[in-house]
Amino acid sequence: MNLEALNKVAEAMVAPGRGILAADESTGTIKKRFDAINVENTEANRRDYREFMFRHKDGMKHISGVILFDETIWQDAADGTPLVKLIEAANSIPGIKVDEGTEALPGTKGDVITKGLDGLSKRLPKYYERGARFAKWRAVIDIGAGVPSHNTIHANAHALARYAALCQEHQIVPIVEPEVLMDGDHDIQTCYDITTWTLKETFQELYYANVALEGMVLKPNMIVPGKKCAKQASVDEVAAMTIKCLTNCVPSAVPGIAYLSGGQSDEDATAHLNRMNEIGGFPWKMTFSYGRALQAAPQKAWSGKKENVPAGQKAFEHRAEMNGLASLGKWRPDLEKKAA
Ligand code: 13P
Repeated sequence: MNLEALNKVAEAMVAPGRGILAADESTGTIKKRFDAINVENTEANRRDYREFMFRHKDGMKHISGVILFDETIWQDAADGTPLVKLIEAANSIPGIKVDEGTEALPGTKGDVITKGLDGLSKRLPKYYERGARFAKWRAVIDIGAGVPSHNTIHANAHALARYAALCQEHQIVPIVEPEVLMDGDHDIQTCYDITTWTLKETFQELYYANVALEGMVLKPNMIVPGKKCAKQASVDEVAAMTIKCLTNCVPSAVPGIAYLSGGQSDEDATAHLNRMNEIGGFPWKMTFSYGRALQAAPQKAWSGKKENVPAGQKAFEHRAEMNGLASLGKWRPDLEKKAA
C-alpha cells in the first residue's frame, strides 16, 4: 500500500469547491427513479442518462469524483468512448460501489447487514485496472421499534472495516459510509445518539483492521430528525448538532467528510452543508457525496427525451454549482433563483 498516493486521491475527492456525484444506483434503484419520470429502465437509457452528466463539463467542474455501479464502469458512451474516460476527461475521479446491498440480519427485529465481502479481493484489481481510484460501501442503520441492535451496529462496522482494509491493500481509497436512515418519526437527539454509537463503533473497527485514516473518506448522514417527526429542525440546529457529533467521533487524520443527502430536499442538503462550512473550526474538509439531491432535478428536466438533454445538463450544473459553493460556505438562498 502506498499511503501517500491514497492520501492524494482522498484529498482530491474532498478538494474545496468540489464534491462527489453518487451515480451508483443499482438497476433496481434507478428503476424507481426512472418510474417517477416515466422512463423505461433499459441499459441504453441508463447509459444515455449518465452519459449526459459526465459529458457536461460545466457541471463536472464542481464534481471531484463519480461513484459508479458495476454496469456503468464497464459501459461505453454512444460513440464508443468508455464512460470512465469521460469522467477522467472532466478532471474527475472514477469510483465504484462494491457492496452488494443488504439482507436481513437474523436474530434482530428488522436490522440489515451489507453483503459483498466474498470475492471482493478479486474484483478490486479489475476495477482499478478500469480506472477506479476509490470505492464505496454503504451500511444501513434504521431507527425504529427495537432497532438498531448492538449486533447490527457491530456487524456493519466490522464489515465496513474489512472492506476498507481490502480497498487500501489494492490501492483504492475506501469511502466508509455508515448511513443512519431518516425514515422514522424519531427526534433529532435520537439521530445524534445512534449516529454517535455507529461512528464510535466504526472507527474502533477501522483501528482493529489497520485501516489508515489518511487514506479514506467518511460518508455519514447529517444529524436530522426523522422525516415523520413532528418537530423538524432549523438549519442552524442541524449544522450545530452534526458538527458536535462528528467532532466527538471522527479522528482528525481523516482528510474529509462527504455527506450523503439521504432523502433531504435538494435545498436543505445544500443549506445544511453550507452552514457547517460557514461555521467551520473542524479539522476536515466537508463536502457532498449526493445521489438524490444532485440528480432529482436533472432527471425531471430530462424525462428520457433527447431534446431535453440540454435542460437536464443545465439542472445538473445548477445543483452541482450550488453544492460546490456550499462546500466553501459561499452559497446563498437567492442564488437558487438563478436556476435554469
Ligand atoms: P443520497 O444522497 O441519495 O442519500 O445517495 C448517496 C448515496 O450514495 C447513498 O449510498
